[in-house]
Amino acid sequence: MKIWAVANQKGGVGKTTTSISLSGLASSRQHKTLLVDLDPHGSMTSYMGYDPDTLKEGVYQLFQRAANQEPFLISSLIKKTQFEYLDILPASTALATLDRQLGTQNGMGLVLSRALLSVQDIYEHVFIDCPPMLGILMINALAACDDLLMPVQTEFLALKGLDRMLDTLTMLNKTRRRPLNYTILPTMFDRRTRSSIESLRAIHQNYPREKLSNTVIPIDTKFREASRQGKPISVYNASSKGAVSYSVLFDDLTKAVSV
Ligand SMILES: Nc1ncnc2c1ncn2[C@@H]1O[C@H](COP(=O)(O)OP(=O)(O)O)[C@@H](O)[C@H]1O
Ligand SMILES: [Mg+2]
Repeated sequence: MKIWAVANQKGGVGKTTTSISLSGLASSRQHKTLLVDLDPHGSMTSYMGYDPDTLKEGVYQLFQRAANQEPFLISSLIKKTQFEYLDILPASTALATLDRQLGTQNGMGLVLSRALLSVQDIYEHVFIDCPPMLGILMINALAACDDLLMPVQTEFLALKGLDRMLDTLTMLNKTRRRPLNYTILPTMFDRRTRSSIESLRAIHQNYPREKLSNTVIPIDTKFREASRQGKPISVYNASSKGAVSYSVLFDDLTKAVSV
């Protein structure tokens, strides 16, 4: 089982889209895949057909039970999606209160990591969609994952969010045995605009080459259409440029795993 966290301390950069696109590809290749929605907005949960406002079982209950030291099975909180090979551990809007409730309680940083251990023989890939703020949920994601994907929107000011995320990573790496590997993924690239071209150039100039994805995700209106239909882009329109670029990315990322 390989666990990916998809994170950036900025909203609207393509985190949820990246999590769903990659998990859609993995599951359509018959790799058993789990999505974990850690964002209290629950956009990924709604995308997959569940209502984060009324959800009774999900990530929130996982943390509650861990805090109360109640025995539980993570598999009882996992739900099926309409796609074969793709399951989800959904988010409810109640998650927004988690930091206030449990943020100061010791031992809450490894809840997700421990819970995922019990499903490690079931899933080949796990994609964790992170909230845009640093708190107990993001800490859990970064502690649980083997690798971090950082989508960065190719527009002015995008690098600020990226720097903030890299500072967070530096801080967290102090408590890890080995530094967490990460990949910067430029998203929503529009070659007709100066802001896209210049920010992509700035990303290349400012960050280590080996940390940059070879694939750049283009801007593609098909993403919005796919999300309206609740389908990963590769299912909605496999030949769209967005789907093709995530497919190249998926091959790159999974190739790196098997070496
Ligand atoms: N490559 C892209 N091209 C066009 N629209 C995109 C692309 N990636 C994401 N979007 C759209 O941008 C919005 C924000 O993306 P989302 O993945 O929800 O960001 P985040 O999870 O980082 O907040 C969504 O409406 C999504 O459909
Ligand atoms: Mg999101």
